[in-house]
Amino acid sequence: MVGPNLNQVTIRRTDDWLMNWLEDPSAVKPGTLMPKFAWTEGDREALIAFLHQLAKPVDKDNLLKGGGSQAEIGEKLVKAYQCFACHAIAGEAGRALYPDLTTVKQRRDPDWEKSWLADPAKLKPQTFMPNFHLSPAEIDAIVSYLYR
Ligand code: HEC
Repeated sequence: MVGPNLNQVTIRRTDDWLMNWLEDPSAVKPGTLMPKFAWTEGDREALIAFLHQLAKPVDKDNLLKGGGSQAEIGEKLVKAYQCFACHAIAGEAGRALYPDLTTVKQRRDPDWEKSWLADPAKLKPQTFMPNFHLSPAEIDAIVSYLYR
């Protein structure tokens, strides 16, 4: 799989970010395989409107209250946010470019992981990992899942 699944891309990126990306991907991420197309601003706006139609809003309140263990709730959140667009977890999807989260617990401690999920760019300013604006409750559940 060369490119990421785009179903939930408008959940993880802002429209401004997507406008810049579609204008010139390698200006945002040097070395990316995504080509630069001769799109007008109107073309790019239309593409982003289409991507918004694909996205399924994450019903975080229901997921958090829906029962099950913290790790089970975390697994549902990871699916809803489509972390698999970049990361493999337990053999599912992911892309070779990005860390496999199955083994993240061997590399990082849970507190590091919580700060990372709260604001990746705070720890690594140039990171390509999006800020999902997760609530503390969502972060706790996702970390329980990844450290289960
Ligand atoms: C657009 C791609 C992308 C998506 C989607 C994404 N990440 Fe990431 N993530 C990255 C990148 C890139 C890194 C590596 C950090 C770096 O080098 O900049 C990373 C690193 C991580 C790490 C640290 C891994 C390690 O071994 O150091 C964790 C944990 C993580 N991501 C969790 C998540 C979770 C949970 C989600 C879904 C809510 C998610 N990511 C969605 C791109 C992504």
